[in-house]
Amino acid sequence: MHALGIEGTAHTVGIGIVDDACRILANVYDMVKPEKGGIHPREAANHHAEMVVPLIRKAVDVAGLDLSDVDLVAFSQGPGLGPCLRTVATAARALSLALEVPILGVNHCVAHLEIGRGVTAAKDPVLLYVSGGNTQVIAFARGRYRVFGETLDIGVGNLLDKFAREAGLPFPGGPILEKLAREGRTLVPLPYSVKGMDVAFSGMLTAALTFRKQGTSMEDLAFSIQEVAFAMLTEVTERAMAHLDNPEILLGGGVARNKRLQEMVGRMAADRGAKMFVPPGDLCIDNGAMIAWTGLEMHRGGVRASLADTVVDQRYRTDEVPVSWR
Ligand code: ATP
Ligand code: FE2
Repeated sequence: MHALGIEGTAHTVGIGIVDDACRILANVYDMVKPEKGGIHPREAANHHAEMVVPLIRKAVDVAGLDLSDVDLVAFSQGPGLGPCLRTVATAARALSLALEVPILGVNHCVAHLEIGRGVTAAKDPVLLYVSGGNTQVIAFARGRYRVFGETLDIGVGNLLDKFAREAGLPFPGGPILEKLAREGRTLVPLPYSVKGMDVAFSGMLTAALTFRKQGTSMEDLAFSIQEVAFAMLTEVTERAMAHLDNPEILLGGGVARNKRLQEMVGRMAADRGAKMFVPPGDLCIDNGAMIAWTGLEMHRGGVRASLADTVVDQRYRTDEVPVSWR
């Protein structure tokens, strides 16, 4: 069976094709790069509308398949930006009708976890999902993926991107700050904001910008933001693992590509005799393959949808999905 997945919750539109064994036959994407400022939902949706058909063609080419070999169409149903979600849902409906194959809407956060289970040896991991818009600690319990902790304001990637933008660096800021942080030497006191199982980052953003105005170097600030923000994430992740008595931690989301975060979480895992899993970078960021794979698992687990079930949901919560395929 071949599933084609369409991702388009935010800045990236991506098409992935996977088979039953979670072999990634194609995973192509295109990202909006705003000239200045943040992402405008309408502009991103127009971008996705322009790119989605050429990307579908490219994906079947890369996979060495014909469109008629596609047995299932899956798409990102939410959470995300309304106009973007509606654009990819429309594309998915049209493709499913044209090919006369089933369609399934996939929860984007669940897909980040499922692709990690698909391509690594992780079986029932705690997921630390760290991206621009989302920061959540997720694990499977009583038939659902439950959120054990999350950000109370902005996602950790958003913290990095916003700080970088204010400092005049291009989007996405995360990878640039990671390089700068390697030259940082001095830890400046940024607020460490953990509330129970939750974290908050907007106070750190304000504090870091104030230090910047006072002349602290970008290297020291990048270093300090990473040390403090990633320590907060490592702390709540460890608490979830301890509470669930779970010896597996999986990273997902764009920020999971960060080597310092991997080092800190990996160290915590090793200290408690647990194992860390990190999918390849192009499966950490928003991508079509994770949507395709989750759709395929859902379909194998007996989930079916009519066109009426494909209405998008901007606030689609991780724990709203009945996980019948596990
Ligand atoms: P979501 O829709 O799940 O919130 P997203 O739209 O933010 O995701 P992703 O592609 O998962 O998209 O993640 C992008 C984020 O990852 C950006 O904030 C970017 O700065 C960050 N990022 C990418 N590489 C790195 C890195 N090496 N270090 C830190 N952050 C990184
Ligand atoms: Fe994502």
